[in-house]
Amino acid sequence: MTKSLLVTGGAGYIGSHTLLELLKAGYKPVVFDNFSNSCAEVLSRVEELSGCAIDVIEGDIRDKSALVRLFEARRLANEPVEAVVHFAALKAVGESVEKPTEYYDNNVGGTLSLLKAMDTCGIRKLVFSSSATVYGEPLRLPYTEDHPFAPTNPYGHTKAMVEQILKDWCHASDERSAVALRYFNPIGAHPSGRIGEAPQGRPNNLFPFITQVAVGKRDKLSVFGDDYETVDGTGVRDYLHVVDLAIGHVLAVAYMASGNRGFQGINLGTGRGTSVLELARTFERVTGRPVPYEILPRRPGDIAQAWADPTVAAALLGWRANRDIEEMCIDGWRWQSQNPDGYQSVVKK
Ligand SMILES: NC(=O)c1ccc[n+]([C@@H]2O[C@H](COP(=O)([O-])OP(=O)(O)OC[C@H]3O[C@@H](n4cnc5c(N)ncnc54)[C@H](O)[C@@H]3O)[C@@H](O)[C@H]2O)c1
Repeated sequence: MTKSLLVTGGAGYIGSHTLLELLKAGYKPVVFDNFSNSCAEVLSRVEELSGCAIDVIEGDIRDKSALVRLFEARRLANEPVEAVVHFAALKAVGESVEKPTEYYDNNVGGTLSLLKAMDTCGIRKLVFSSSATVYGEPLRLPYTEDHPFAPTNPYGHTKAMVEQILKDWCHASDERSAVALRYFNPIGAHPSGRIGEAPQGRPNNLFPFITQVAVGKRDKLSVFGDDYETVDGTGVRDYLHVVDLAIGHVLAVAYMASGNRGFQGINLGTGRGTSVLELARTFERVTGRPVPYEILPRRPGDIAQAWADPTVAAALLGWRANRDIEEMCIDGWRWQSQNPDGYQSVVKK
């Protein structure tokens, strides 16, 4: 029987890439999304790329009864949901400082509502989108999973709180399993150029900023600080290809399905750091597009460098990142150049 999965936030950047990999692996994902930061067009494109129809329910994870109805409908249709892959969240660090209650409500309240609906319907497996931001300022690098948590903003606190909730949820019953995947910095796009990251307004992250400069939507890249103790003074991060990240979710679902119980936090990163200027220069070299930049003061709360120790992911999931920075730039540029306004490019036509 094809395994049915619920994918909350499946219309988002990472969710949409994961849907494709889940379909490829033979799963039957049902998307539950309120489209607060995405649009339905992405799902049509996933259908086009996979050749599979996708069930979509528009709804908010804070609506427990909508989730219970969905789980019940699947059970009655003889396609019970086996596990949940939980992406739905608000994710802008700066906005979380301005609107903390919205972030706690959506990210923590939303997850509690989801877990209660799962408990009501006897669903016991969950993969959670956590983040390297839970670690805060590094006491040592690379970050290993036992590095203490010290988030520096409300967004990071929501991720750390949900991890604690999942630990307690698993502790309360031997039959439950939860894998918190701590993503480092996902960038790039599916190699088809049909799906990718489509930020609304000014991008919060470096890579979409670079691609928007290259496509002419912005004049220059803002580089925050060139006086860090790093290879060239700019911040260093562990960038990973979004397709590698998506595959990590398929492996996490398989890990739980093969009988592993309890809570597990797992880093997903390459184990290598790349500076802002190294990323911009690699992008220029492989795409032939100039990326002018200006140096601005450091942003409060930014750390100098961060990268993962990915050995637990290799040991437990058999996962490793296979795509390099050049491939991330080439694939990300294909998406941006073919869709200069993201999914709005088609909607406007
Ligand atoms: N993109 C990154 O760099 C990054 C890094 C670490 C962790 N994460 C986490 O990964 C997950 C996915 O990130 P993304 O980059 O794909 O973000 P995204 O905004 O593209 O996707 C999130 C999706 O969740 C939906 N959503 C939000 N709140 C919802 C709610 N209450 N009910 C239903 N749907 C809701 C949005 O409409 C969107 O489609 C998030 O949990 C995010 O915090 C992302």
